[in-house]
Amino acid sequence: MENQTFKIANGGGKLYPFGGVWPEIADNCFIAPGARIIGNVKIGTGSSIWFNVVIRGDVGSVIIGESSNIQDGSVIHVSSGGINTQIGDDVLIGHMAMVHGTTIEDGGFVGFNAATMDNSRICARGMLAAGSLLSPGKTIGEAELWMGRPAKYVREMSPKMLENNVFGSNGYAKLAQKYLSEYLSLKK
Ligand SMILES: CC(C)(COP(=O)(O)OP(=O)(O)OC[C@H]1O[C@@H](n2cnc3c(N)ncnc32)[C@H](O)[C@@H]1OP(=O)(O)O)[C@@H](O)C(=O)NCCC(=O)NCCS
Repeated sequence: MENQTFKIANGGGKLYPFGGVWPEIADNCFIAPGARIIGNVKIGTGSSIWFNVVIRGDVGSVIIGESSNIQDGSVIHVSSGGINTQIGDDVLIGHMAMVHGTTIEDGGFVGFNAATMDNSRICARGMLAAGSLLSPGKTIGEAELWMGRPAKYVREMSPKMLENNVFGSNGYAKLAQKYLSEYLSLKK
């Protein structure tokens, strides 16, 4: 269709262009109803974007890897001046989180209602606890737990906590495929 202002993604969420650039979403991603993804955004295979998430790639780019999940009501944005957002594989971002100009490496975890600010980073398997605020330029090291507003280092993640987080992220990847197959069968 010419002059299309949006497209419906697999799952029912909407994709919008910005500056002539459309989001690129791998085929088996689940993009839930109410989700809106705008502009320079790339999402890898098996990732899921849940109800009412906004991902806005306008003044920079958002790249999300494989089998990651962005849960309901979260907002993912970038900052002008080249502060992009990069999210790796098997990352879990809890409900109502705000991720702004941040890099999150593979297996990283952002608890629900947490926020990350410009130029912050969560290294592989690092965790920002629910409700916490990672201030600008701060880095959570590999497999570290940070907590509070502003977030501070608490301790190394225990093997049990790391296992729980892998369980959570795998669980979301599986749940997304169930939602996706239900959506595709109802759509026929
Ligand atoms: C970080 C987390 C794993 C708990 O860590 P923990 O060290 O095992 O925490 P505990 O329950 O043993 O509590 C230890 C102390 O930290 C406090 N605490 C726990 N979680 C906290 C949080 N998110 N922010 C601030 N303080 C917290 C507790 O109140 C307790 O304080 P006290 O010693 O004064 O009583 C948990 O709070 C969390 O963030 N889980 C993520 C849940 C989530 O977002 N899931 C995504 C959706 S699926």
